[in-house]
Amino acid sequence: MSILTVDHLEKIYEGKVAHKALDNINFSVEKGEFVGVMGPSGSGKTTLLNLIATIDRPTAGEILINGKNPHVLNRKETALFRRHELGFVFQHFNLLDTLTVEENIVLPLTLDGESIKEMDKKLQYVTKKLGIDSILKKRTYEISGGQMQRTAIARSIIHKPSLILADEPTGNLDSKASKDVMETITAINKEDQATVLMVTHDPFAASYCHRVIFIKDGQLYNEIYRGENRQAFFQKIMDMLALLGGDNRDLSTVRL
Ligand SMILES: Nc1ncnc2c1ncn2[C@@H]1O[C@H](COP(=O)(O)OP(=O)(O)O)[C@@H](O)[C@H]1O
Ligand SMILES: [Mg+2]
Repeated sequence: MSILTVDHLEKIYEGKVAHKALDNINFSVEKGEFVGVMGPSGSGKTTLLNLIATIDRPTAGEILINGKNPHVLNRKETALFRRHELGFVFQHFNLLDTLTVEENIVLPLTLDGESIKEMDKKLQYVTKKLGIDSILKKRTYEISGGQMQRTAIARSIIHKPSLILADEPTGNLDSKASKDVMETITAINKEDQATVLMVTHDPFAASYCHRVIFIKDGQLYNEIYRGENRQAFFQKIMDMLALLGGDNRDLSTVRL
């Protein structure tokens, strides 16, 4: 079953000179898949993620998430849709530093007026899973970058969204914390059948995906599947990035 279908998607930014940032993009993501999106700077990755996240609207084409087209909803319905169907993980974690780890994680449930008992049950489940159950009372400035990102991941999955959207989740982490976060996302993906779409510059992070989609100049360029061996997949990703050209600043990031 497809959780995400992107059908003939086009995005034109109007301006003095109109710019076609996405051109006839088609792909789908099955339930339980973990898919990476890569491409040079300016290729349209953020645009794609913003359209799927319902932060921006397509010029043409359609996006279906769990069979529903979020772009036909009104403002209020869109906010609800986002909160129920989607989970977000960002490069800068986007945690509130006036709140504790626990308060950050249950925030989406608080907004939905869930009972304390129900929230607590879900909180225990996700924080044990992510290994952050001992830091629930800490504030975000008291914990490490890796712990912050695991807190953000806990927040993104606590309501069991249909689709988790991650934008450069390892972008601000050192190599040990990156590995940790990728292993966490992999575990959630495997054990809870969470469906994940992750934009990344980082071939190491991408090597954890089942499949990586490459875009160039707003168009689908290629896609490669992982198979059994992560190291071999990492090498295939590096080769594809070299072929793609453009912004190669992360090609030096070799850490297996
Ligand atoms: N709000 C905007 N208005 C006009 N052009 C934009 C806007 N956002 C992005 N672009 C342009 O669209 C193209 C794709 O950008 P983006 O999706 O941010 O690429 P990426 O995330 O792959 O670096 C770039 O040429 C960029 O300059
Ligand atoms: Mg971007």
